[in-house]
Amino acid sequence: MNIHRFIIIVIVVFCVGSCKHKEGEYHSLKDKIDAETKNYQDPEISSESYIGDVKTIEIKEGDHRFLIPERKSQITSFACTECHTQPLGKMKRIEGEKRAHWELQMQHADEKAMNCTSCHMGENMDNLNSLTGSIIDFNQSYLLCAQCHNSQFQDWKGGAHGKNIGGWAKPRAAMTCVSCHNPHQPQIASKWPVQFNTEIEKERK
Ligand code: HEC
Ligand code: HEC
Ligand code: HEC
Ligand code: HEC
Repeated sequence: MNIHRFIIIVIVVFCVGSCKHKEGEYHSLKDKIDAETKNYQDPEISSESYIGDVKTIEIKEGDHRFLIPERKSQITSFACTECHTQPLGKMKRIEGEKRAHWELQMQHADEKAMNCTSCHMGENMDNLNSLTGSIIDFNQSYLLCAQCHNSQFQDWKGGAHGKNIGGWAKPRAAMTCVSCHNPHQPQIASKWPVQFNTEIEKERK
């Protein structure tokens, strides 16, 4: 090899190896921290891609402002007033047909403490009602639950009960109570944790 070519190669190799930094290499640890934390100071992640096609509404509860799924378009038998054209007391069972809403079984509080009209407005079926008779929109049914389950409601507002859609990415979006709990049978069945079977593990070896 010609001596000049050799020197040029040595210079090129030296420069590539030391003058320039490879991607992901920094002069000091502080440089690295500054460069790599930039994303967290100004997050580019958005919850929007996680929300997808789910229709949402924005709510404000105390200091908390966030999105929750819209419900009315998801309720099969909405609008209720398509059939509930008169107060509940005047609604007649349709001759020869099964009782309306027969598929719906209540298993919530004791029946002395709660019946259909504890939550549904007999006179205005397209809305829910509070215990004192004020209107609650179906999209804000968490307010209904909050009357009796205040501690879960407080936790939910802060993000400790339930689930945020897309983590803490902004805008904050959270599932609402009825996304997880059927209001007529709200208990969530307990599950066994997945078990680690030491016997099967031994057989594999
Ligand atoms: C397809 C018609 C229809 C629709 C839609 C409908 N209902 Fe009804 N509902 C009835 C009829 C008829 C009765 C009363 C007679 C009976 O028990 O069969 C009734 C009764 C009820 C009762 C009283 C049940 C009881 O056991 O006392 C409640 C509460 C009720 N409906 C709530 C709703 C709500 C809330 C919606 C909307 C989310 C809705 N209904 C939509 C037909 C309907
Ligand atoms: C603890 C409050 C509560 C009680 C008690 C209650 N409901 Fe509901 N009900 C709700 C809420 C909240 C929704 C809307 C849930 C949602 O957003 O999917 C609902 C939804 C419904 C729907 C629409 C379901 C669908 O998917 O089409 C019907 C029908 C209904 N209720 C009837 C009844 C009847 C009949 C009773 C009594 C046997 C009753 N509810 C008791 C809270 C209650
Ligand atoms: C009028 C008061 C009242 C309202 C309104 C109400 N609940 Fe309840 N709820 C009770 C009572 C009472 C119990 C049974 C006692 C208990 O287990 O805490 C109960 C039980 C539950 C449980 C089961 C608790 C457990 O330990 O297994 C869940 C979950 C629940 N409710 C969720 C809801 C949701 C979601 C809503 C709104 C759609 C709601 N509740 C509305 C009074 C209410
Ligand atoms: C992302 C799903 C999800 C959402 C949203 C959610 N919950 Fe729950 N909730 C659960 C699960 C899962 C449990 C069962 C925890 C257990 O068994 O230890 C639970 C338990 C409960 C209980 C039983 C007591 C307890 O704390 O274990 C109540 C009451 C309750 N939720 C009410 C609510 C109310 C009110 C809201 C809305 C303000 C709500 N939940 C929103 C999933 C959810």
